[in-house]
Amino acid sequence: MNGTGPTIRFDRISKWFGSQVLAVDDVSLDIAANEFFALLGPSGCGKTTLLRILAGFESPSSGSVYLEGRDITAVPPNRRAVNMVFQSYAVFPHMTVGQNVGYGLRVSGLPRREIGRRVEEALALVRLPGYGDRRPEQLSGGQRQRVALARALVKRPRVLLLDEPLSALDRKLREDMQLELVRLRQEIGITFVIVTHDQEEAMSVAGRIAVMESGRLVQIGSPSEIYEHPRSRFVADFIGSVNLLDGRVTGTDGGVTALDSAEAGGPLRARLNGTAAPATGDRAWIGIRPEKLLVDRRQPSREGNALSGEVLEIAYLGERSIIHVRLDSGKVLKASCPNERRFDARGIAAGDRVHVSWSAENGILLTD
Ligand SMILES: Nc1ncnc2c1ncn2[C@@H]1O[C@H](COP(=O)(O)OP(=O)(O)OP(=O)(O)O)[C@@H](O)[C@H]1O
Ligand SMILES: [Mg+2]
Repeated sequence: MNGTGPTIRFDRISKWFGSQVLAVDDVSLDIAANEFFALLGPSGCGKTTLLRILAGFESPSSGSVYLEGRDITAVPPNRRAVNMVFQSYAVFPHMTVGQNVGYGLRVSGLPRREIGRRVEEALALVRLPGYGDRRPEQLSGGQRQRVALARALVKRPRVLLLDEPLSALDRKLREDMQLELVRLRQEIGITFVIVTHDQEEAMSVAGRIAVMESGRLVQIGSPSEIYEHPRSRFVADFIGSVNLLDGRVTGTDGGVTALDSAEAGGPLRARLNGTAAPATGDRAWIGIRPEKLLVDRRQPSREGNALSGEVLEIAYLGERSIIHVRLDSGKVLKASCPNERRFDARGIAAGDRVHVSWSAENGILLTD
């Protein structure tokens, strides 16, 4: 590998804890230079373990890790050009901000003046210039998180690992810090790998996302690929919200697969969108995102899938409402409708008979 190769390569990494827990299960993954990459998955799926293997705090049971073409599997953490920001942003309470940020440089024995210069530079990067003499308790939660970031950046790593760095912050502050992270990565031009179980966070900061399930990588792609083309019910359900209708394949014609679905009370059609056609007779599911469902009291005129049912309840969320519709089969679908006008519930109320429709393009065919 050379400068054009991936910055990070996981090559068939597995990690056992004892003989019972397989925390990482045969993961191979390349992350390119300057990527903002996210590892996403439910609690306990192995995200932190994979990050710790990359940082060198954990050694894999099998497989190798490469950094810029070099096998670093046996290299100790302090000799890797990788730095990690932990979930609980541990700033030392008895040190000033400047001492916190300069800590790693003092340990490596850099001259005082050089430390002072680099600490100021790191504080400027995280937009806390002149905060060096403050104490951590004089800072807000978001500012403390920035200090933790500055402390990781001051050593000028090639790769920054962020393990749930924003989970302690409230929602508004989180969103601000997400934008800050994106700006910071662009400004310093290094590779960021973030771990999160918050799908919106992963989608808003990362260029590519890897979804993990029980130690395995189940899908890698851009946020829109993962959202619009999930390859399994697990991914479809983990990233956003999805309605699933169970059925059996009755055939494929012109790139459109037909399904017979008891839950839908009849046939459904979904465009394949590049995936292989399933065999006739196989079990399959159609996934429909709530915002792609149209709810109307009138019969839809357009071609596509249309089902009828009764409105169970409407949850008003401000910018949108979630309409729960119980189909005649008993299956409940969720439709997300933007509230584009004030005082307008589209004339729909609980108890109404409605039609729910979506086009063949908007249904995701899933076989797993
Ligand atoms: N030191 C350890 N000893 C034994 N088991 C461990 C150890 N560290 C992690 N595990 C187990 O390995 C699995 C993966 O843990 P990991 O911390 O990587 O999950 P995670 O995806 O980061 O979860 P979370 O979102 O909750 O942080 C879990 O089943 C966990 O209990
Ligand atoms: Mg974790």
